[in-house]
Amino acid sequence: MLITSPGPGEGKTLTSVNLAWCLADAGHHTCLVDLDFRAPGISPALGYAFEEDGVEDVLTGNRTISQSVRQIAGRSLYVLGVKKRLTSPGEFLSSASLTPLLANLRATFRWVILDIAPVIPMADVAEVLPYVDGALMVIRSGKTDKSMVAPSLEIVGSKLWGVVVNDSPINGSSYYDYYGNLKD
Ligand SMILES: Nc1ncnc2c1ncn2[C@@H]1O[C@H](COP(=O)(O)OP(=O)(O)OP(=O)(O)O)[C@@H](O)[C@H]1O
Ligand SMILES: [Mg+2]
Repeated sequence: MLITSPGPGEGKTLTSVNLAWCLADAGHHTCLVDLDFRAPGISPALGYAFEEDGVEDVLTGNRTISQSVRQIAGRSLYVLGVKKRLTSPGEFLSSASLTPLLANLRATFRWVILDIAPVIPMADVAEVLPYVDGALMVIRSGKTDKSMVAPSLEIVGSKLWGVVVNDSPINGSSYYDYYGNLKD
């Protein structure tokens, strides 16, 4: 599954880490992969530096998955992080690189969560989309530009599994009022 959002800073990495963590805690063998080479977020989110091996080493064939993947805190959670930020990750997101990586991950893990760049203005999502079963779109309340939502959903198309509404205020929302009134 890939996790994206229309723009930057909307909670893709936070959602990827939380979802992968929950799946692992529920007993599913899970691999979280950072494919956002321009703004890799998994390493800072987990407080772990992928200094020796990164997902780029696996994509270029210099390392195997088992050499590069890190198990987190003895859980069923495994992570492939980005070693170095890149301005132009085209070669890593090509078909030749992604096919063997994702085939291997599929064979090994029950869930593979891909944290990826925003849909707009990058081409990264379109590159990776053919290789995934589904995609989650993260929309951040008060931040996501509404005019970007429909075009982003259109790019993801039939692979869309769901939308995560992140950072939504609960107090004062109509949802809260509805259930509040039911209680009364
Ligand atoms: N619901 C939330 N509540 C509080 N802070 C949040 C929430 N969602 C995201 N943040 C914070 O906002 C910042 C951006 O979140 P995150 O890194 O997950 O977004 P992103 O979409 O991955 O960003 P980028 O496009 O840079 O990769 C982080 O500091 C994160 O901790
Ligand atoms: Mg991120």
